[in-house]
Order: sequence, then structure tokens, then C-alpha cells
Amino acid sequence: MNDEHLRLCASAEWAQLVADELLPWVLGDDELGPDVLEIGAGPGLVTDLLVERAPQVTAIELDPDLAAALRQRMAGRPVEVVTADATAMPLPTGRFSAAACFTMLHHIPDPEGQDRALVEIARVLRPGGLLVGTDGEDTPARRALHVDDVFTPIDPATLAARLSAAGFGYTDVESNGDRFRFRARR
Ligand SMILES: C[S@@+](CC[C@H](N)C(=O)[O-])C[C@H]1O[C@@H](n2cnc3c(N)ncnc32)[C@H](O)[C@@H]1O
Repeated sequence: MNDEHLRLCASAEWAQLVADELLPWVLGDDELGPDVLEIGAGPGLVTDLLVERAPQVTAIELDPDLAAALRQRMAGRPVEVVTADATAMPLPTGRFSAAACFTMLHHIPDPEGQDRALVEIARVLRPGGLLVGTDGEDTPARRALHVDDVFTPIDPATLAARLSAAGFGYTDVESNGDRFRFRARR
């Protein structure tokens, strides 16, 4: 992430948006279950909320510095932080009751990599396991935030088909024009 983007993802403003708007919109009435995977945790403002809703959280983060900082900040809480790439996760098949993927898929540099990550998420979920997530629409403001950074926006109109191709059964994608949320069952 560029510096401005990193600052935003670690800010009180982002924490409030995630807690008050994004997580309730993404999760709805669904339960995460006992063993939750978070993909692309970054500074961990979503992790803070997930660990209040699940007894065990595993957070995957590609950037070793961000992962180390989160590991240190989560010490004493039931959160394992794994430095790893979502497109090839060193995690067992069929383990997790739910996976949360917040504002990270657009950071994977190409659609093929995004699809590999979706296949990997389906692999590590239990049968019936839940994927919930959100990402941003392709807007001028979001492009400006990603100068010198990876930005591979997902067209929400294509996401249900991509989730199905990755191995998900039920899928639900909804956009509010600026962001979209997705839910899918393994
Ligand atoms: C915009 S941040 C979002 C952080 C957090 N999910 C949130 O919503 O506050 C995206 C994060 O995904 C991570 N990331 C990007 N590609 C990844 C990959 N292939 N595997 C794991 N993490 C990745 C980035 O390093 C970054 O920390």
C-alpha cells in the first residue's frame, strides 16, 4: 500500500467506518462460527472486530512488516497472524467456519490471481462455510488513492460468476454504487 492508503487503513476514521457500516452491512444476520480466517488483514482494524465475534481468528497478511506489527498488537488474543499470500495459503483444506475478505481483492495485481485467491478461500472453508467480504467500486477517488499502488478493481457484476467458478454454491453480491459486499457459501 502507498503511505496515504496505509494511513487510512490504520485510522480512527476507518475503524469507525468498518465497525458502524461495513461489518454490519457485510455480515447481516450471519454467524461466523468458531474458526474464522481473515484475508489481507493489513493494520488489523477488521481483525479487532472479528476477534470479538469468534473464538479463534487466523489473519493472513502478505506484507511481512504489517504482519509482524499485527502479531505483536494481537498478542494475548486468540489471533494467529500468518505471513502468507492469499493465492497459495499454507492452511489445511476444509478447516474454517468462515472467511472475511475486506477491501483486499483489488490489491491482487491481476484477475487470475484474484480468482486463485477465491479458489484458495473455497478450499480452506468447511463445506457450508461462509465467505463474507467487501471491496470498492472503480471510482476516480479510489484510483487517486492508489497512485503508485496496486489497483485491480473487481466488477461486482462479474463476481457471482467468479465465486461460482471458484467452487462456491450460494452467492450474493450487492453494490451501493461506491462499495459492494459479497457473501457466498462453500
Ligand atoms: C487495503 S488493505 C485492507 C486491510 C484490512 N482488510 C481492512 O479492511 O482494514 C489490503 C491488505 O491486503 C494485503 N494483501 C494484498 N495482497 C495480498 C495477498 N495476495 N495475500 C495476502 N494479503 C494481501 C495488503 O498487504 C494489505 O495489507
